[in-house]
Amino acid sequence: MTAGSAPSASSVHQAATDGAGAIPRHVAIIMDGNGRWAEQRGLPRVAGHRAGAEAVRRSLQAAADAGVEVLTLYAFSSENWRRSDDEIADLKGLMRYYLELELERLMDEGVRLRLIGDYQAFGPLMTRQLEAAVERTSANRRLTLVVALSYGSRSELAAVAAKLASRAVTGELDPSRIDEATVEAELDTAGLPDPDLLIRTSGEVRLSNFLLWQCAYSELLFTPVLWPDFDEAAFHSAIEQYSARQRRFGGR
Ligand code: IPE
Ligand code: IPE
Ligand code: MG
Repeated sequence: MTAGSAPSASSVHQAATDGAGAIPRHVAIIMDGNGRWAEQRGLPRVAGHRAGAEAVRRSLQAAADAGVEVLTLYAFSSENWRRSDDEIADLKGLMRYYLELELERLMDEGVRLRLIGDYQAFGPLMTRQLEAAVERTSANRRLTLVVALSYGSRSELAAVAAKLASRAVTGELDPSRIDEATVEAELDTAGLPDPDLLIRTSGEVRLSNFLLWQCAYSELLFTPVLWPDFDEAAFHSAIEQYSARQRRFGGR
């Protein structure tokens, strides 16, 4: 590509978020450390997940107040099915409880819910509840809350490859015309800007199969704070640290 040629779809929204002092349009969070939070208190892991749900509520409020457009939360990974049946049942129960409890607040706050991942894996009851919440909140415009449920970036990308391949086989898609925008349009996150800021709590410094394509140019922030202790102040501090970063996207 020569200098000055047309930017790709992703560099269009990258350019829109460049510049010091900016508020990130899209914040993604790997909410980690619930189990250790509970362990430190001699409590069962489920107590950590319950406290983690309170932290979700605080971050959602802080994001809306800061003017963030999209908040993506990694709630359950495709690898989290390796946990015990008891812990999975606890997590599922909590997610259903909070979804019911919080739906009116999402409406009041103008929050639109969107899902990524294989959420149907949680069964028909939860699937119906989730889809009803997505439908109910679909006209809200203040903030988009993206919840990643049974999400794994590699399986998302493999599914994109399968979809594009089948369209190529039927002749609907010319393989030589596949570009970044073609791939992006088939991702679970199609239509959303890429995360500007990716936060991981609990001191772990890894991505754990989260948004590998979408975070190609995200600013990464790792904090030792355990997720249940992540509060409004921690959220605002993360935004402040982001604002002080200089993003280059390969230029200058
Ligand atoms: C994050 O906390 C919640 C989920 C992955 C569902 P963890 O449960 O992973 O907590 P730690 O890492 O064991 O402390
Ligand atoms: C990542 O946390 C997934 C979520 C936060 C939902 P994990 O605790 O599952 O990640 P690993 O196993 O430490 O990489
Ligand atoms: Mg963990």
